Amino acid sequence: MVILVTGGAGFIGSHTCVELLQNGYEVVVVDNHSNSSPGALDEVQKLAGLPLTAYQVDLRDRKALAEVFDAHPIDAVVHFAAKKAVGESIQIPLDYFDINIGGTTSLLRAMHEHGVYQLVFSSSCSIYGDSQKVPMAEEAPAGPTNPYALSKWTCEQLLAETCSRYPQFTVVSLRYFNPMGAHPSGRIGEDPRGVPHNVMPYLTQVAVGRLERLSVFGGDYPTPDGSAIRDYIHVMDVADGHRLAVEHLGEEPGMRVFNLGTGAGVSVLELVEAFSAACGKEIPYQVVDRRPGDVARLIADSSRVEREWGWRTTRNLAAMCDDAWRFQRLNPNGYDG
Ligand code: NAD
Ligand code: WQD
Repeated sequence: MVILVTGGAGFIGSHTCVELLQNGYEVVVVDNHSNSSPGALDEVQKLAGLPLTAYQVDLRDRKALAEVFDAHPIDAVVHFAAKKAVGESIQIPLDYFDINIGGTTSLLRAMHEHGVYQLVFSSSCSIYGDSQKVPMAEEAPAGPTNPYALSKWTCEQLLAETCSRYPQFTVVSLRYFNPMGAHPSGRIGEDPRGVPHNVMPYLTQVAVGRLERLSVFGGDYPTPDGSAIRDYIHVMDVADGHRLAVEHLGEEPGMRVFNLGTGAGVSVLELVEAFSAACGKEIPYQVVDRRPGDVARLIADSSRVEREWGWRTTRNLAAMCDDAWRFQRLNPNGYDG
């Protein structure tokens, strides 16, 4: 099978490309490298010991995207390409709508025009908003609290509508909680452009001395230590979930939604402690105001995907910290260093 991976040079995309290549899929990547380096794809191919084909294309460039579909007999698409930072999305919401929603509709149009109807979509736990009830199952009401989350929720609704209007479409939407960590080899990992928005790459860059200290956003949440709680999940478990999603895509028409998380909540301060243990250094931090758009607690109920596909996480918080640290230690300046 030939799989088109949008955003395949990014953090989750690169790990998923390795997983797909190692499981016998041919991989074609489309990425504009707005938040990634082409060097990530060199490492992916070395790690897998297999080649892939890559195009530097913006998803919204319909002509260039059509040429990619013309050039390859694509069977299914795994769609990662998007912007993903909650705080930034409040500053530049129209960019988030344009890239995340516009990119997705451009992709759906290209798929339809080329007779490709199988899609795995990157959704997010952030669509659940500030629910008091944790863990959250897929039936929990959506309540996006920021433009990023709204863009993901809007895409899910567009995908559901597309499936009902075009019965040929099959979509699996994976709502991941907070992916982090890296490939255990330390060859690929999280290397965002600019100052990281997400907490783990921020921590690793403090540990290698590229940043001074972590700002812990909020010490007054209604949680045991006052910092916000998330369900951190190893990126290798997320990549494994995508391979399974591709395997199961053809089983049912229409749209299916699955959470991917561990079911365990970890506070920011607990994460700082776990990462300090992994890197053997005290990570300097200061508690500052809450970040607008953040919520107190997001924890997954992933029993649906476990029941239906037998997926469950196999890597713990210590492995996430060890692996993230190994990647940063071996690549202190990322792929371009
Ligand atoms: P990432 O930024 O590392 O990867 C996204 C990739 O898409 C990057 O390589 C970027 O260059 C590319 N891209 C962005 N806009 C593009 C465009 N218009 N055309 C072509 N390529 C484009 O992010 P990630 O952490 O790997 O996230 C992948 C997906 O998973 C995103 O859709 C994100 O919203 C979703 N997600 C991420 C997380 C997380 O915490 N990392 C959690 C839930 C959902
Ligand atoms: C984690 C925790 C921050 C940076 C978002 C989406 C989610 C997923 C991951 C898409 C929060 C705190 C962070 C820092 C901090 N999707 N933090 N200092 O916002 O939970 O999740 O990204 O990408 O669907 O909602 O992830 O890594 O930004 O933050 O204290 O410098 O760390 O407030 O509690 P988030 P994150």
